[in-house]
Amino acid sequence: MKQKLNIALVGATGAVGSEFLTLLAKRNFPVNSLRALASPASAGKKVIFNNQELTVQTLTHNSFEGIDLAFFSAGAERSKEFAPSAVKAGALVIDNSSAFRMDDDVPLVVPECNAKDSFSHKGIIANPNCSTIQLLVAIKPLHDYGTLTKLKVATYQAVSGSGAKAIEELSTQARDFVNNRSLKHSVYPEPIFGNALPHVDIFLDNGYTKEEMKMVFETKKILHHPKLAISATCVRIPVWRAHSESIWVKFERKIDRAMAKKLWLKAPGIKVMDGINNYPSPLKVVGEYDTFVGRIREDISEKNGLCFWCVADQLLKGAALNALQIAEAYYDIKPK
Ligand SMILES: NC(=O)c1ccc[n+]([C@@H]2O[C@H](COP(=O)([O-])OP(=O)(O)OC[C@H]3O[C@@H](n4cnc5c(N)ncnc54)[C@H](OP(=O)(O)O)[C@@H]3O)[C@@H](O)[C@H]2O)c1
Repeated sequence: MKQKLNIALVGATGAVGSEFLTLLAKRNFPVNSLRALASPASAGKKVIFNNQELTVQTLTHNSFEGIDLAFFSAGAERSKEFAPSAVKAGALVIDNSSAFRMDDDVPLVVPECNAKDSFSHKGIIANPNCSTIQLLVAIKPLHDYGTLTKLKVATYQAVSGSGAKAIEELSTQARDFVNNRSLKHSVYPEPIFGNALPHVDIFLDNGYTKEEMKMVFETKKILHHPKLAISATCVRIPVWRAHSESIWVKFERKIDRAMAKKLWLKAPGIKVMDGINNYPSPLKVVGEYDTFVGRIREDISEKNGLCFWCVADQLLKGAALNALQIAEAYYDIKPK
């Protein structure tokens, strides 16, 4: 790829948007121009890209003139309303929200799993849910070897998954706790400090939450495995950044601990941290591009079953990095 791209960053002031600004520079993405877009409340604010100040503009239907590539990270409502305008203006949209993920004509892509699906886009490529991305990076090499038949996952999700306000809410509650003040909350239904809430996104009629069903539907779509038996329980915990997952899987063909490690060691985007007193944790993984696995065990309750623990920085691999990797693969750009 020789040409530099004109880029729009929708949600440039948010938790994910900030990571994009850093990654675009750090990975030497071929940026010709960068338009930082956010809500009217942020118009005129400055964000930093490549040591230069950019002035944030209000997102409108006319924001995409001359834009080649638009990254959307401003919530599903904004994506639904404004992504069609970006496509109409000739831009390729890579969308971080849930707006289009399950649409038949929108590829849902984790580059380590299904990069080729990107090429069937009709203007929009969707970035999966953060919890789904790290799960898929870990599962794909095992599935290719042993054929996955059943998957159960319990998540332990960081507050930054709910955006900049949630990061601030946990920090304020931590300060209020040590100062013996009452804990105020607005992002979550209860204080998140000192707590664990089995409540990520809204509750659905089947008793699952929307986050749990996103993991189910998105996993089947990305793996092209509609018959996969899969269920999820998603829990928000008082960790600032990086999601953890406890994963139980069953295969047609046995995968023991040694084989799992062997498959992961040669797979892209994954690091094994497995041994006595050695396992991934959110604080170890913050800022890392890879998905980390550890606590690898054969499941003693299930034939051909395997259990493991998986941690990734969800603002990077679960959001901005995965979206950027989609673009890099699509335009055949070699990152720095
Ligand atoms: N956080 C994660 O780990 C994660 C992972 C995967 C996907 N995502 C998705 O990424 C998106 C952004 O998440 P986030 O965590 O970055 O949230 P955030 O920190 O709350 O940021 C939201 C961004 O959207 C902008 N925005 C809000 N209303 C807008 C409007 N009416 N017009 C234009 N821009 C508007 C905000 O601008 P202002 O600052 O002006 O309000 C801000 O830049 C969401 O769709 C989320 O589901 C997040």
